[in-house]
Amino acid sequence: MILRCEGCGARVEAGPLEPFPFRCPQASARPEVDHVLAPVLEAHVPWPRSDDAHPFKAWRALSHSHAMARRFAMKDEDYLALVDDLDRAISAVYGHGFSDAPLRHSAALSARTQTELSLVSEVEQVAGSHKARHLMGLAIHLEIVERLGWAEIPDLAIASCGNAALAAAVVAKAAGRRLRVFIPTDADPSIVERLRALGAEINVSPRCVGERSSPLSEPAVHFAHALPPQSGDIPCGEAGDPCIHRFREALAEGALPFCCQGSENGLTLEGAQTLAYRLAASMPEPPDHLFVQVGGGALASAVGRGIFEAVRRGVWSRAPRIHMVQTQGAAPLARAYERLRVKIDELGVEAALAHAATHRAAYMWPWEETPHSVAHGILDDETYDWLGCVRAMAYSGGLAVVVDEETLIEARRLVEAEAGLDASATGTASLAGLLHLRASGLVQPGERVCCLITGRASPR
Ligand SMILES: Cc1ncc(COP(=O)(O)O)c(C=O)c1O
Ligand SMILES: [Zn+2]
Repeated sequence: MILRCEGCGARVEAGPLEPFPFRCPQASARPEVDHVLAPVLEAHVPWPRSDDAHPFKAWRALSHSHAMARRFAMKDEDYLALVDDLDRAISAVYGHGFSDAPLRHSAALSARTQTELSLVSEVEQVAGSHKARHLMGLAIHLEIVERLGWAEIPDLAIASCGNAALAAAVVAKAAGRRLRVFIPTDADPSIVERLRALGAEINVSPRCVGERSSPLSEPAVHFAHALPPQSGDIPCGEAGDPCIHRFREALAEGALPFCCQGSENGLTLEGAQTLAYRLAASMPEPPDHLFVQVGGGALASAVGRGIFEAVRRGVWSRAPRIHMVQTQGAAPLARAYERLRVKIDELGVEAALAHAATHRAAYMWPWEETPHSVAHGILDDETYDWLGCVRAMAYSGGLAVVVDEETLIEARRLVEAEAGLDASATGTASLAGLLHLRASGLVQPGERVCCLITGRASPR
């Protein structure tokens, strides 16, 4: 199975000389292009018919790591044993390993929304959210690289202060890998404590305010990536998340991206595609609408990819309309999609998406205001995986939904009261999207709907 950049078309094949095929080789040379190095699934691989609740066993035949292992003479049973070993180690660290929860039909929430509503819950997943899926996919890849003797595994790195960091720390500890986590100054102390307890190395990344500031109050490293100095000012000021900038420095020094952003590591998308596979396998008929919350966009982009894979293989006759939910606090994806729709009217879907892939800055740039929301897990100031998201919306007839705080709070309350799930406002933002589209009449009474409930209220 090869990997192909969805932005520039570059092709890479994993092997002893290319053990870490994570980022497009053209990414630095052509910054105007949106580079995501993603596995190209071979059409002849049949849809797995498995009732194994373990996502990385059930859907292994659709994964790059399985194809890579098999191509280099690893037996299927050895691959399964490797997944089992990792899973056992995760159980030892976290208390249990991976398992797909059955789809929940909620009569009460269906009545409340006047739809036929099903929930996919990740509240009981490893590390309390879907994020662990992204990281488990990467951990399996690294394990194979090591077992095949292709390379030693250097330090791993991630920029996050929430569910992604927790999931990375759990999986990295279980895999016996060193992890560097880049967190902001205002990270939740209880999460930082938990990360430390899991053995992660914590790096605090202050936000540069663009003012003259003393090198004593800001770490020196902070100035190295600033804009060129002007009229004697101390250069300071960079757009976007400072944790991401520090994370990229770590990658430049040789660390591996153990993260949940396809732009940094395309293989991270695969793990979360398993959510879509399970959904497709659980519902004989596709729902009319699927709601996904969007922060950095890896989840929604991965779910979109998984859904289209299920349609391509005839499991579903069509895709549901995939709607993507952001908060009023930060909605860079909705802004980008608005621009794309103008382009679609002008050029058609294919040509507009090709334009978007090669003119990133015309669609996606960091949200200017410092964002706030109860759904703080989806406040990324940039939707890193925006191209996969807009592609999924454009091809499925989905909408970019921007919800207010009241609706987010109501959605969380409803999921707790009516479905008994202790989910966070981020985790229930998908339902907020449904409430919004029901209120505006864009989802009709009686339609079949699915919402992803992606994370628990207090991650552990
Ligand atoms: C619980 C939960 N749901 C959804 C998301 C959004 O995922 P993504 O950043 O891939 O868009 C996050 C991200 O932090 C999350 O923690
Ligand atoms: Zn590329």
